[in-house]
Amino acid sequence: MGKIILTGDRPTGKLHLGHYVGSLRRRVELQNSGEFEKIFIMIADAQALTDNADNPDKVRQNIIEVALDYLSCGLDPERATLFIQSQVPELCELAFYYMNLVTVARLQRNPTVKAEIQMRGFSDSGADEEGVQRPGIPVGFFTYPISQASDITAFKATTVPAGEDQEPMIEQTREIVHKFNSVYGPVLVEPEILLPDNAACLRLPGTDGKAKMSKSLGNCIYLSDTAEELKKKVMGMYTDPDHLRVEDPGKVEGNTVFTYLDAFCRPEHFTRYLPDYATLDDLKAHYRRGGLGDVKVKKFLIAVLNEELEPIRERRKFYEARIEEVYEILHEGSRRAREAAARTLDEVRGAMRINYFDDRQFIEEQAQRFRQ
Ligand code: TRP
Repeated sequence: MGKIILTGDRPTGKLHLGHYVGSLRRRVELQNSGEFEKIFIMIADAQALTDNADNPDKVRQNIIEVALDYLSCGLDPERATLFIQSQVPELCELAFYYMNLVTVARLQRNPTVKAEIQMRGFSDSGADEEGVQRPGIPVGFFTYPISQASDITAFKATTVPAGEDQEPMIEQTREIVHKFNSVYGPVLVEPEILLPDNAACLRLPGTDGKAKMSKSLGNCIYLSDTAEELKKKVMGMYTDPDHLRVEDPGKVEGNTVFTYLDAFCRPEHFTRYLPDYATLDDLKAHYRRGGLGDVKVKKFLIAVLNEELEPIRERRKFYEARIEEVYEILHEGSRRAREAAARTLDEVRGAMRINYFDDRQFIEEQAQRFRQ
């Protein structure tokens, strides 16, 4: 059987370089490799609503932002099905059945959900230890790993390119598949996560050196940033706070500029922009010895990033002039995704013995039973 990709993003904001090195860039490579029979890329609006119930317009506005990010990065609607989660209602149906296969305790152990509950200040008792009122945990939010299992399995995905924060979701999906198949018969496929292959890509820090790019911290470089915005952000980036004078020896570990170079820089960039060095290791060695200023390294990073982002900006301009077409791409993609999910749902209903009306033999047997 051919390999199938499903992955996606919540439309709660524009996508940034963290998304790009964590998953987007890989998706485009995989698409172009021709190794996959089908590729589904989903804008997870229903999942975004699990903790944005009071903010539907934010989700609505960001769907087009994410779609533009996808298309600008080189996802090609001819080769990848781009769709919107809420437009495939089969996913809800599947999640409803999976809920019977997962315990509350298992959901409570999901480390990503745990961390997100912390981050959002939710509390299951309605208050924290000091008695301060906290918003309760929405049930839909608590159960979103189950919904994510249905996203993946509805398309019989074998491969989920994603960041490491998605690992617990894939693990939980595999458990659900295993349980479903052993109870109802072999219908579903156990997926595998495809993580970025380098540590810098696994978790790209924010421009301020904090662990993660996040909109609320204001430390993101967006794929849609102009060359001027990019320059300003890189020039203001966190480096080694003890590297005060050019002559001082500098630290490369935890130095955001070097982490970004780990994620983006290739040997040919040196030939083009910094021919005094052959490799990133040479540049790092000089920085460690002292005598290499931050500005020089930052200017190099700007050149490297612009080389990667310029074709993305060009494609964005193209699609920004064709917004109606972009919605048409999503509409058509959602129709195709729905067809694929509906095929799996037919099999699921059959295996679960809830396909009463398309089972002639079953109806005849029942008739027999009552005639006797
Ligand atoms: N949880 C992902 C995110 O936060 C979005 C998502 C929803 C997803 N369903 C998925 C990712 C299925 C991979 C596979 O961005």
